[in-house]
Amino acid sequence: MEKIDVKKIEARLHRAYPLSGRWHNGFHLEMPFGLINDPNGLCFYQGAYHIFYQWNPLGCQHKNKSWAYVKTKDFVHYTLPTLAMTPTDIHDKDGCYSGCGFVDKGALRVLYTCNAKDETGHRTPAQRLGTLQADGHIVKDEIVVAKEAQGYTPHYRDPYVFARDGERYFVLGAQNNEKKGRGGIYKEFAGKWQLLGELKTAYADFGYMWECPNLLQFAEGEALLFCPQGLEPHAYAFQNRYQSGYIAGKLNMADLSLIGGQFQELDRGFDFYAPQVLENNGRHILLGWMGMPEEEADYPSAEDGWLFSLTVPRELRLSNGHIYQQPIEELKALRQPATETIWQADNVDSYQHKLADKSEIEFSVELGEAKAVAFELIYGEERLSFSYDRANQVMTIDRNGMKLGGRGQRQFILPAEDKLQVQLLVDKSAVEVFFQQGLETAATLIFQKEEVNPVFAMKSAGKIKFLQGKSWTLDSFTFA
Ligand code: FRU
Repeated sequence: MEKIDVKKIEARLHRAYPLSGRWHNGFHLEMPFGLINDPNGLCFYQGAYHIFYQWNPLGCQHKNKSWAYVKTKDFVHYTLPTLAMTPTDIHDKDGCYSGCGFVDKGALRVLYTCNAKDETGHRTPAQRLGTLQADGHIVKDEIVVAKEAQGYTPHYRDPYVFARDGERYFVLGAQNNEKKGRGGIYKEFAGKWQLLGELKTAYADFGYMWECPNLLQFAEGEALLFCPQGLEPHAYAFQNRYQSGYIAGKLNMADLSLIGGQFQELDRGFDFYAPQVLENNGRHILLGWMGMPEEEADYPSAEDGWLFSLTVPRELRLSNGHIYQQPIEELKALRQPATETIWQADNVDSYQHKLADKSEIEFSVELGEAKAVAFELIYGEERLSFSYDRANQVMTIDRNGMKLGGRGQRQFILPAEDKLQVQLLVDKSAVEVFFQQGLETAATLIFQKEEVNPVFAMKSAGKIKFLQGKSWTLDSFTFA
C-alpha cells in the first residue's frame, strides 16, 4: 500500500484548477493528474448530485484506486474535487474499488468493493459501507459481505443498491467457478445483507466476467446494465476490448428472473466503459468512463501526467425495449447564446463550418438522393471521420486520420429512412455523438497533435435534399 497524503494531494489538486493543457476538456469531468476510471457512488442527496469516481492520485497506472468526489446542483457548477476515500487497511489495501451511493436515514452511504491481495496474488473481495461527511470525505463503516459466495471466484465486485417495494437490494458483478459472468443479488434484512441468489437471464454463457451491473426501473420495465468481458468481436458488435450494454425486460424479484430482450450495446465509440446510473425523481442520469481497461497505450495524455475522462451526464429513456440517451437538459446552459449559428442548405453535396475548441452542433439531413454522407472534424492535417452508408445502414467512425493515440474504425447499424439526425458535443479531446435522437451514441477521445480548432465538414455522394443545423460555442464547467 503506497502512502497517500490526502491533504497534500488535495492542495496540489486545487492549485491545478481551472485545468489547462493541450488535451484537457472543458465540460467532461477529469483530473489534472493521475488515472481515473469508473464513475462511482452517484446519488442525489440534500438537493445536489454527488459524483464519485475511481482515481489513482499517484500515477497513470491502474493501482492505488481511491475515490474522487465532486458535487453539483446543475451539472455545470461543481465543487473542487476532494480525495474522498483511499486504501487504508488490510481490507482495501489494494484498492477502494467501484461501488454505489444511496441515501439512508438522512445520510449519504456508499457501498464499495474492498480489494485485497495476498503474496500469492489471491484476492479477497469484501463489500463495505461508508458514510459521506460534510467535508467531502468518506468514513468507512462495516463490511457487510466478507468474501465471494460459494460457487464464485474472487472476481466479485461493484455493488449497486436498488429498492423494490420498500425493500433494499444490491446487485453485484461476479464470475462463477465455470468462469462465466453473472450478477448476484443480495437483500438487506435489518441491516444485514444476505445473498438471495443469482439473477437469471437468457445469457448463461456471455463472457467470463460481468463488471459494474446496475439494475434500473423505468416506467416501461427494468433494465440490467452490465459490462461483460470476454465477448468475441464481430461485424457491428463488440468492437472494443470490453463491452457495456443492457438487457431490458421484466424483473421478477420472486424468482430473480429478468425476462426480456437481447443484449444491446450502450455506446458505439472507442472510449466507453463501466457506466453508472443515478435514478432521481423519475430521471435516469448516466455517466460513463471515457477510457478502456488495458488499452492505456492508446491515450497519450499520460505523457502530461493524466489519463481518461467521464462522459457528459446523459439522460436515459427506455422505449420499446431500447434505451435512448441524450445529453441532459442542464448542459444547454453551456451554450453561449451570442455564438448560435443557424445553417441551412438545399441541394448540396458539401458544407463546412468553423468551430471553437469547445462546441456543440445539432443537425439533420434530409438525405434525398445522397447514397452516402460523411462528416468530419478536421484539425489541420488530422481528422475524425464519420461516414454513413445508406444502402447498408452502416455508420463508420474512423480514427485513422489522427496522428497520436488510438486508431482504427468502429462500425454499427444505424437505421435511417430518409433523415439523419446528429448531435455532436466536441470538447478539447472528448467527442460525444448522439445519433437519431439518442438511438445510438458514440464516445471517442482524440488527441490532436497541433493545437488548432476544428472545422466541421460534410460531404455526400449524391445531393442532399436539405441540411439544417445549429451550432454553439460552449462554456466550460466551473469548479469552486
Ligand atoms: C471496471 C473495474 C471494476 C473495478 C474497478 C477498479 O473498470 O475493473 O470492476 O471495481 O474498475 O478500478
